Amino acid sequence: MLAARLGGRGHQIAIEADSGMLSFFRRHQPDAAAHHADAADIQSVLEAEGRGPADVVISCLPWTLFTHAKQQLLLERVTDAIAPDGVFTTFTYLQGLALPTVDDQAKLPVGEYVQEAEQDRLRPC
Ligand SMILES: C[S@@+](CC[C@H](N)C(=O)[O-])C[C@H]1O[C@@H](n2cnc3c(N)ncnc32)[C@H](O)[C@@H]1O
Repeated sequence: MLAARLGGRGHQIAIEADSGMLSFFRRHQPDAAAHHADAADIQSVLEAEGRGPADVVISCLPWTLFTHAKQQLLLERVTDAIAPDGVFTTFTYLQGLALPTVDDQAKLPVGEYVQEAEQDRLRPC
């Protein structure tokens, strides 16, 4: 969907930690660059692709399943891998809002790494 919207502009790289999900993705997006990696290793993935800092990082990571320490690590690594004027955006599915967090501190530490947060509803495709 992203590639279609970009219409050939830019270079997209996908990172997926689960091999089953990665195989599914590759079956449906055979032309996309996709890496079997932890999102925390985004810098190594960019280097493997011969790319500099990312202009945009779009995430659907399951933040509520991560410990506070893992959230911190991911946000630190992602912000390090983005260009100074780059953008990080994350989306989740509505049902995720009802899920308990892994630990008491696991609420996404928005203020520490993110300048601006907004909530929006997507229309069904
Ligand atoms: C809610 S699913 C989203 C799946 C799909 N990308 C989508 O947009 O519909 C979250 C995905 O994040 C992957 N994931 C979880 N932790 C990860 C991590 N640390 N690094 C990379 N991928 C991770 C899971 O394997 C899962 O496929």
